[in-house]
Amino acid sequence: MHASSGSVLVVHGGAYDIPLESHEAHVAGCRDGVEAGWAVLTSGGSALAAVEAAVRVLEENPTFDAGRGSFLNAAAQVELDAIIMDGRDLNVGAVAAVQHVAHPVTLARLLLTESEHAMLAGAGAELFAREHGLPICAPEELLTGRELERWKAAHATGKPQAWEPWGAQPHPSDTVGAVALDAAGNLAAATSTGGTFNKHPGRVGDSPLVGCGAYADNRTAAVSATGEGEALMKVVISKLVCDFIAQGMNAQEAGEAAIQILAERTPGEGGVIVLDRRGQIGIAHNTPYIAHAYVTSSGEIVTGIQAPASNRNQRSDDGL
Ligand code: GLY
Repeated sequence: MHASSGSVLVVHGGAYDIPLESHEAHVAGCRDGVEAGWAVLTSGGSALAAVEAAVRVLEENPTFDAGRGSFLNAAAQVELDAIIMDGRDLNVGAVAAVQHVAHPVTLARLLLTESEHAMLAGAGAELFAREHGLPICAPEELLTGRELERWKAAHATGKPQAWEPWGAQPHPSDTVGAVALDAAGNLAAATSTGGTFNKHPGRVGDSPLVGCGAYADNRTAAVSATGEGEALMKVVISKLVCDFIAQGMNAQEAGEAAIQILAERTPGEGGVIVLDRRGQIGIAHNTPYIAHAYVTSSGEIVTGIQAPASNRNQRSDDGL
């Protein structure tokens, strides 16, 4: 896929076996996210501001496992991970296992711009949010009935539950992310997640880890990843995509090559959205679906639930 010139934006709403009944909600949510980010780019905003704006909209949407609607951990708490990265200078802001913050991507950006640190976790990240005037929310504001019921069902026996590995059970939603190229030729990437269902309190996935959940480098590409965090982090998947691009692959080839390594070496499941410095888009996954939307420099919004051509292992043509 190629967008001729100028700004480009891509978002994803997770790569996994998305239930058919929520395909439409996933695609509509991705469209909303891409519209928000595109509004920033077309009004002269930076790629960094655009990915933040896009991910905030996805965090707000309970369809996704990010912000509102996030999965609960084993202690029935929402703990959020997020990252944002600026391709101009490789500056990164990331937060992990954060509670009481509805928009962890904004907290991550605040860390990027207002701190010498690259990553804060848990109570320290929340303290940073308070220190910088970011709204603090009650846990209930992030909790949906869907997730509470799922947690109650898993804990119905009253016995301590083991952590449920990614993909062990059908799950309703997944991580979100965005990559953007602005008119000045700068790239940025952001990813946000509620992590895995019934995870141990304090568990941190791939999403906030630089090079895993996201990477952005003006010399190569911007990438956001989604899927099985414990596997994605082993192959440092987002940086892997950028390295393949540095070796001469195009965006689609690089995404597919990284997913191939993920499958061969872990073996795990996931997906990536890729945007290279020339505005070429890649979408790759080895899951049945990856919800996504992108907008090209001509302003056309394209949505989908699978990569147009990829090494995915299943197909379903439902017309979305
Ligand atoms: N990829 C999201 C997570 O595993 O936490």
